[in-house]
Amino acid sequence: MSDVVFPPGFLFGAATSAYQIEGGHDADGKGPSVWDRFVRRPGRVHKGHTGDVAANTYPDFRPDVAIMRRLGLDAYRFSVSWPRVLPSGRGAVNQAGLDYYDRLVDALLAAGIAPFVTLFHWDLPQALQDEIGGFAGRDCAALFADYAEVVARRLGDRVGHWITLNEPWVYATLGHLRGLHAPGRRNPWAFLRVVHHQLLGHGLAAARLRALSPAARVGLSLNLSPIYPATDSDADRAAARLADEATNRLFLDPLCHGRYPAALWSRLRPFRPPVRPDDMATIAAPLDFVGVNYYTRARVRRAWYVPFLGLWPDGLPLLTGEVKPEGEGDESVPRYSGMGWEVYPAGLFELLWRLKTEYGNPPVYVTENGAAYPDTLTADGRVHDEARRAYLEQHLAVVAAAARAGVDARGYFVWSLLDNFEWTYGYDKRFGLVYVDFATQRRVIKDSGLWYSEFIRNRRAG
Ligand code: FCB
Repeated sequence: MSDVVFPPGFLFGAATSAYQIEGGHDADGKGPSVWDRFVRRPGRVHKGHTGDVAANTYPDFRPDVAIMRRLGLDAYRFSVSWPRVLPSGRGAVNQAGLDYYDRLVDALLAAGIAPFVTLFHWDLPQALQDEIGGFAGRDCAALFADYAEVVARRLGDRVGHWITLNEPWVYATLGHLRGLHAPGRRNPWAFLRVVHHQLLGHGLAAARLRALSPAARVGLSLNLSPIYPATDSDADRAAARLADEATNRLFLDPLCHGRYPAALWSRLRPFRPPVRPDDMATIAAPLDFVGVNYYTRARVRRAWYVPFLGLWPDGLPLLTGEVKPEGEGDESVPRYSGMGWEVYPAGLFELLWRLKTEYGNPPVYVTENGAAYPDTLTADGRVHDEARRAYLEQHLAVVAAAARAGVDARGYFVWSLLDNFEWTYGYDKRFGLVYVDFATQRRVIKDSGLWYSEFIRNRRAG
């Protein structure tokens, strides 16, 4: 690892999100979120698991801050639960909810850990879903900015980095087109409205955050994935270009260039949302950084991909037509993670390079990267997760190489600090650096966590 050198000031962190760890789903005046509702629908989540208790950090986050300190993290990315702060999504503020985040920020700063605050990690207040259709309603964008202001008024004097949205593609696509995530809709018109209104909400919230704390750095986290054609055929290559527009460029282009990607946009004409004259300028206000969430690459085939974009409801499996690449890999590490996702570190380089060359080389944080594996606590009281350790090491090396090549990489966050509620997979998938025994809430730092801590301690700045 001697050639793994990071830029001065590079931050090493870990990430979580509110619904996946907090528990306290109805504590101290919190309102329900769309996820609180969705998990109660039969058959939606593995074994009917819920986030009611999760890793139970709402009652007491201090042990986990102590763990972060022990790991030597520079930064912690967490999300604020909108319905904990505004139980109805708007109007009356739940002070107890805000107090929780206020105390958490203070505890992090006291431990020398920089807070990176995500404002929307999918747990929309159910009241807004019921009243205005959630982000399918245009008003949701303005209400999101109002919520951002409430949070910033309390935390803005201490929080330096804000992430408005987490993975708006996932919220729109899995939540409103494929029905796999909350709120469980399958409607192409709602889907594209949710894309546009999230972006608008981002732009409005970013302006509000900047007005309130001029030193704040504001960005958002996108799930980006290089898309490869399954074969060299023209049809597969065309499908890959379109799939790239529907995942990566659907967000990067409006944010960085002020327009939706042309080929996709023309194909989606029947479903397009109303776009008002100033919207694109609001969306494209300069970002202080881009957050990249990277796990794997995708390979697509025309037969699976293209029909979705032209017809409805025929082609539901957007990007599920992924093809597993054939051939021999490095057998010392499993080629697929426990999610069945290909381990492909080069894809991260490709994305970072693309941000540099096609999107003006913005400051970049890798705001999520990591892998699920079927971890077990062994008789020696340890979790020997060598595959995860290797995954992290390989991806960190890629980030260092990208920075050396001129990418403006500023930091890296492992997903996740803790094992947690992995959405529709419930507690079946473990991503943590720290093992959580959900029956007792006991924590055990995994071997990957110990390794990461050592890695941070030995970091080298160029
Ligand atoms: C991302 C999500 C995060 C987690 C990881 C595995 O899509 O942002 O909450 O589920 O994937």
